[in-house]
Amino acid sequence: MVKYSCETCQKTFTQKGHFEKHMSRKRPCKKDNTIEVLVEQKVKEVLSKTNIVDKNESSTNQDMKLNQMDYTKKTREELIAICKEKGIKGYSNKKKKDILELLSPINNTIVEKKKDILSPVNNTNIKKFTYIDLFAGIGGFRYGINAFQSSHPQYIFECVKTADIKKDALKTYNYNFKEDNKACDVHTIKNLPYFDILCGGFPCQPFSSAGKQQGLDDKGRGNLIYEVLRICKESKPEYIILENVSNIETINNGEVLKTIVKEFQTIGYHIDCIPVNSAQIGLAQDRKRIFIIGCKSKQPKVIVSKKNPVTIKDIIDLTDETTNLSENFLRKLLVLPTEQLIGKSIKDKRGGDSNIHSWDIDFHGKISERKKILLSTILLERRKKKWAAEKKIKWMDGIPLSFMDIKTFLDYEGLQEDLDDLVDKKYLSMEYPKDIVDGKRTPIEKLPIGYNISKGKLSFPISKILHPSQLCPTLTATDSSKLAVLVGKTIRQLNEKELKRLCGFPEQFSLPHGVNKYDLFGNMVCPPVVTAILETLLLPSV
Ligand SMILES: C[S@@+](CC[C@H](N)C(=O)[O-])C[C@H]1O[C@@H](n2cnc3c(N)ncnc32)[C@H](O)[C@@H]1O
Repeated sequence: MVKYSCETCQKTFTQKGHFEKHMSRKRPCKKDNTIEVLVEQKVKEVLSKTNIVDKNESSTNQDMKLNQMDYTKKTREELIAICKEKGIKGYSNKKKKDILELLSPINNTIVEKKKDILSPVNNTNIKKFTYIDLFAGIGGFRYGINAFQSSHPQYIFECVKTADIKKDALKTYNYNFKEDNKACDVHTIKNLPYFDILCGGFPCQPFSSAGKQQGLDDKGRGNLIYEVLRICKESKPEYIILENVSNIETINNGEVLKTIVKEFQTIGYHIDCIPVNSAQIGLAQDRKRIFIIGCKSKQPKVIVSKKNPVTIKDIIDLTDETTNLSENFLRKLLVLPTEQLIGKSIKDKRGGDSNIHSWDIDFHGKISERKKILLSTILLERRKKKWAAEKKIKWMDGIPLSFMDIKTFLDYEGLQEDLDDLVDKKYLSMEYPKDIVDGKRTPIEKLPIGYNISKGKLSFPISKILHPSQLCPTLTATDSSKLAVLVGKTIRQLNEKELKRLCGFPEQFSLPHGVNKYDLFGNMVCPPVVTAILETLLLPSV
């Protein structure tokens, strides 16, 4: 069963309506920081028992702690000094009231916690981990770690380094974690002191099926894995958690992944590679990723436990009926009955009944049933291998067919007029068949010009209307803006709430103005997957 939980007060709801009512209360609920307070007390107790004193803590800092409640009486400059002392970032250009906000008890708790606990406290139940968040994006790893910490308060994590170079990603990360990280290229990270865990969803384009699949030969992004290796060699973290697209397992017959594993083994890590689909851990997204897990002291064995499946209907935001799709396009689509809309792709490609084609919705203007049959027949015929053999060219999907070719499978009086009209209306285009010349697809002008279907999948404002009882396909940086849902009487792109739910980000996560949410969510790692991995990696096995 899907559970909705309030990130502020931790209450859980089984019914979405109740949850939404709770979230829209006039008087917002209060954060339940009982766990944080308990942890804080426990840590203090442990430190005093073991006589551990934080050497970094100056007497001024201790005074400040005593005077926490007097912050309002301090000047802006004094507050900035306190921020510096406490390692709180983000005070530049801020007014006094905003700096006070930064120093509010919640923020204090976190920072004090970071400073108070010294690395591994022995003979206690408290386990402290430092980690670095490489290729941090919008913080999928960090949210996953935070969720693990919330449910296992004896584990305390501190992020000691964040690296990313994308403006939108950093803006979003800083906005949500109230930090002021500047762009940091992993190439520039040198000789970090020891930390416990290295997290990184290294860039996937060189490995993804959408890219050129150059793998480790990719001179730019592919080589970033070697930067990760270098950082591990220098700092020797106990654990490594890396994430990448599932295709990394298969390109070059699996050689790419084997090479990566071997490189980490050579520098002293035991490695386990595990595919995890977000859908198996209770998200409504079919997103398969490979996790490369390393451990210095023992062989890691990661088994991610399965959770109840959920689908689009569990995450859809039925309150949002606003759309920015054109009225004209929507009017054409919405003439189809609901069952012919939901779950359908919108493209002039193969796929039979699971596709809505441009002519099914009179995308370029009304046409007769006879012309629709002509288009559907050309769509299928142009894929047949025999046309390539007849034209003595290499077979490629979608060969343009000449008038004489078409006549062989559909011959009637008025065929030429129908074809002309479909070209005029832009349902068909006229092209020369292509062959491979010097490694490139090249039109062969000595062959008769042919008719081809003009619209691919990218030419429609949306590519798919999601089915309420199915999963959302993998969100990608380029295509997720084209996924749509039918809500009330309209069709719209996925909104921020839905993207968050599909990816397992907390409800309180929010996007700053002006960032490209589809790109950011298309690249993130799902936090609940990270949490699930930590559960098997760090908790003692039963
Ligand atoms: C696949 S995304 C990882 C997203 C992240 N796991 C999240 O949850 O949002 C890869 C990220 O690596 C960043 N990146 C690419 N090259 C980088 C470099 N040389 N140094 C640091 N970050 C880099 C990109 O900007 C992108 O945000």
